[in-house]
Amino acid sequence: MQNLRNLPDTPESLDQYEVEHLFHSWSFQPEKAPARVVSAKGARFTTEDGREILDFSSCFVSHNLGHQDPRVVDAIRRQANTLTSIAPVFSTRPRAMLARLLAEVTPGDLSRSFLTLGGAEANEAAIKIAHQYTGRRKIITQYQSYHGGTTAAMSASAGDARNWAQTQGGAEFVRVPQPYPYRCMFHSATPEECAERHLDYLERVITWEGGGDQIAAMILEPVTGANGILVPPDAYLPGVRALCDRYGILLIADEVMTGFGRTGAWFAVNHWNIVPDIITLAKGINGAYVPLGACVVRKPIGDFFKEHFFSHGATYAGHALGCAAAVEAIACYQDDGLIERAAEMGSYLMTRAQELQERHPCIGEVRGKGLFVGLELVKNRETKEPMVPIGGKTKPGGNPKLAVGRKLFELGMIAMAANPGTVLALAPPLIITRDEIDEGIKKLDIALAEADAFCE
Ligand SMILES: Cc1ncc(COP(=O)(O)O)c(C=O)c1O
Repeated sequence: MQNLRNLPDTPESLDQYEVEHLFHSWSFQPEKAPARVVSAKGARFTTEDGREILDFSSCFVSHNLGHQDPRVVDAIRRQANTLTSIAPVFSTRPRAMLARLLAEVTPGDLSRSFLTLGGAEANEAAIKIAHQYTGRRKIITQYQSYHGGTTAAMSASAGDARNWAQTQGGAEFVRVPQPYPYRCMFHSATPEECAERHLDYLERVITWEGGGDQIAAMILEPVTGANGILVPPDAYLPGVRALCDRYGILLIADEVMTGFGRTGAWFAVNHWNIVPDIITLAKGINGAYVPLGACVVRKPIGDFFKEHFFSHGATYAGHALGCAAAVEAIACYQDDGLIERAAEMGSYLMTRAQELQERHPCIGEVRGKGLFVGLELVKNRETKEPMVPIGGKTKPGGNPKLAVGRKLFELGMIAMAANPGTVLALAPPLIITRDEIDEGIKKLDIALAEADAFCE
């Protein structure tokens, strides 16, 4: 064996290690190493060859605070100096503080958290809690959703081509469509009608599947992220809440992407004044500086486990570094007024994105909430033929959005071009300035010509 301290680490050897020794997520394994990032600050990061890149994706919608906020970096450093981690049977100061902070910021009586390392695990925990609390097995989930890469979370991620290779099978995940007014599958004329028809269909599915006797929970993204920035019509989520109440089904809101200000409110459910029974969080919980997620449940569910064994756990649950980062990050959201700022900058971004639609025939619709804006790419505005067919992401050469992504990168910017659907998503950090939005729009204006070229 080589001396393990002296492995070659030139740029060429690092590239070789990337290509030969790593799995790269959700993609064909590359022939060429991706650009290496060496530092980051605010809404930008810098690659090894010295290029500055404007980040309109917040790295999969996680760096809500921007990169390298010194207050969070310091909190991590201070925690690392005294205690990096300890077995979860012990309390730590940041873990206890975070549990209280989550009870404070989440709506209603959501008040007991299981802490995880990321979003998928938060959803795994939510599903296990729903099974244990209700004693039932079935979970209703929506087509065009993504809940994470682990087995149950992936099985719940219906209609996302990433799910096809690895669903758990069985009838325990029952899929329903979600409202998508631009392409309403029930041919509704208005968003209101779209909500009504989806609620009607959902109620039928609930009864066909055995109602509250059989169904433990329904899981949904209050505003769908990776599968297309789908904002439900106003009546939909209150309607789902009412149906869940009527049939005694738990409602799980997956706010892994939408939580912590992304949509211009602390949580997307706040826009509709509903309180889910379980909310799942990650990403923005600490701005992604250290892996962390959380599954937060309402008080009666939390109390249930005083008398029933809680059958779940993990070595790193409540890791001290992740919790210390979250305690600081959550205070920063409040100190800097970032939630309100996301609403304000979001409406500016929306206006500027709508201007792009006037110039680019490839944009069929612009929609979103807060700093979560989607451009739906079509080949033809009349027919609404999607630019990226369903499953295009998993086929070589099947995703014309990647041409836009490549052009943007050449121009010094990233957006979320590799989403599974036909939507290019814009989700800059909540600290983004007007000037940076203008700069991003200018670059998008150039790069979208790549997609216009596919229009018929
Ligand atoms: C809504 C939603 N849930 C869950 C996840 C999974 O989170 P993670 O990648 O941290 O496991 C994601 C990731 O993008 C997500 O968008």
